[in-house]
Amino acid sequence: MRDISYDNITDIVVRAYQGADDPRLREILGLLVRRLHDFCREVRLTPEEWERAMGFLQRAAEATTPERNEFILLSDLLGVSALVDLMESRKDTDASITTLMGPFYVPGTPDLGNGANLIGDNDGERIAVYGQIRNTDGAPVPNATIEVWQNAPNGLYTVQDPNQSEHNLRGTLHADENGSYAFATVKPIAYQVPGDGAGGELVRAGGRHCWRPAHIHLMIRADGYKRHVSQIFNVDDPYIDEDSVFGVRAPLAVPYDREPSEGELQRFADVERPFNVVEADFVLARA
Ligand code: BEZ
Ligand code: FE
Repeated sequence: MRDISYDNITDIVVRAYQGADDPRLREILGLLVRRLHDFCREVRLTPEEWERAMGFLQRAAEATTPERNEFILLSDLLGVSALVDLMESRKDTDASITTLMGPFYVPGTPDLGNGANLIGDNDGERIAVYGQIRNTDGAPVPNATIEVWQNAPNGLYTVQDPNQSEHNLRGTLHADENGSYAFATVKPIAYQVPGDGAGGELVRAGGRHCWRPAHIHLMIRADGYKRHVSQIFNVDDPYIDEDSVFGVRAPLAVPYDREPSEGELQRFADVERPFNVVEADFVLARA
């Protein structure tokens, strides 16, 4: 290994990692080294640029805490999280498309049953959200568990904001035996992903912004089906085509400002007026 040159270094490094026991790891490491070396050659990376890149990664590490993973944010901002999710979703062509989970999911939120009202003392426009959970044959999936979480009218998720109650605007719902689910909440608003770390640096350097269009997150589980992670986007949000983390999918972008019909006013008799209606159905893939 002492005759290392520009021409042979890639093969030598690839070979050096071929002792990995796990064949999948061997495959990933081998290709990673090749692509990384090709990339450096192609952009003719200079030592100064390499130093800047290392400084950038150091700042990402420094911004990372148990509650905040700057590397996940970098993956999101570079579209890698979205790509991995799209590759998985492609395996289930008849199911609804999935999208990113994001960093604000918290397991074990209170069980609120079906028809929950999450509004509490939040200001903001009220909405009633409802739909049906089906399988790829079109049959209802009974009794799915649906965890939902969203931001408050100040743009912050409860995990980001000590002034919100522990489970503000999040909870665990259940669809009924016909797959129907419903809940009342306030309209989420567009917000910016954290811009004070390496992720923000990247966004600004790339001439982008940190905004995400307004959305509600859902994680749907039912026996015999794959876990389904999704978001319901406001199709009229000004950032709908500029999501900083590339999470919007056309079928998940729906109106948030439809006025309720007579039937919907009756169905949501307990929701304080005025409110608008948001409809979203989901098709789950079999496990
Ligand atoms: C979110 O949807 O909340 C989110 C997703 C990716 C990065 C930051 C936030
Ligand atoms: Fe979000």
